[in-house]
Amino acid sequence: MDVRDKVVIVTGASSGIGLAVAKLLARHGAKVALAARSKDKLEAIAAGIPGSLPVVADMSRERDVAKMVSDVLGRYGRVDILINNAGRGYDAPVEKIRPDAFRALFELNVVGPLVAMQHVIPVMRRQGGGLIVNISSGLALMTLPGMSPYAALKSALGKISLTARAELDGDRIRVSVVYPYITLTGFEANTIRHDEETQGDAGDAAPDEAEGHGPLRPPDTPEYLAEVILKGIGSEDAEIFAHDWMRNMAHA
Ligand SMILES: NC(=O)c1ccc[n+]([C@@H]2O[C@H](COP(=O)([O-])OP(=O)(O)OC[C@H]3O[C@@H](n4cnc5c(N)ncnc54)[C@H](OP(=O)(O)O)[C@@H]3O)[C@@H](O)[C@H]2O)c1
Repeated sequence: MDVRDKVVIVTGASSGIGLAVAKLLARHGAKVALAARSKDKLEAIAAGIPGSLPVVADMSRERDVAKMVSDVLGRYGRVDILINNAGRGYDAPVEKIRPDAFRALFELNVVGPLVAMQHVIPVMRRQGGGLIVNISSGLALMTLPGMSPYAALKSALGKISLTARAELDGDRIRVSVVYPYITLTGFEANTIRHDEETQGDAGDAAPDEAEGHGPLRPPDTPEYLAEVILKGIGSEDAEIFAHDWMRNMAHA
């Protein structure tokens, strides 16, 4: 899909990948609705993106998700693309996963995107089509000790995405899943770790030096990933990989 003049909802648009995607799509002529919890940040970002709309929403709350879509419809009258990007990490060995923390992240990383899809699907069907882009993770393609909570949630989102794509084919609604590689954002600092039980303190540590990651290929910038996502929006491919070498890991 060509993004020019399209109405796009980007969740998690207050920082990192979502912010880079929103800016890039706006530069390519899209009208972007910027959703996240941080009102002040969103308003400052929206002030720099002509025609954009800040929408304060906690994506783990169904009511907020419903209101986000109705606010966007109220402003623009349509939704062409939904980018479900808001999310947070949770690292813990299986034995130490806290059910309450896992449930809370299930609400954000899986149920929130699902509910957003359920609200835009009828709108897109009426419009004659649309595109839903769900941001999963390269970790969903791997089995890494200590990383199952996040990998499981992102795998669930990927499976929902590909199944919805098959279900909605006749409605000309495409659903794509994106597998980012390690990307230099606030993600590491925002990841919940079992030994802290609160926000992680990886701070500005380079992700390839972060605990448990070992030596890895260099991380990506959010601007690089935004270009990958823009290309993926153009191709409407089912699966969009940050790098070609990640394709070999898919469903191995
Ligand atoms: N960075 C990586 O290495 C990497 C790799 C693979 C996948 N990903 C995925 O990429 C996506 C974007 O992450 P990022 O790297 O850009 O991380 P980030 O810099 O931490 O950004 C996360 C975004 O999600 C928003 N968010 C968090 N909780 C939310 C909630 N309850 N409701 C609404 N918005 C919420 C945050 O905004 P507020 O705090 O203002 O709400 C922020 O805009 C996530 O789904 C992540 O899992 C990241």
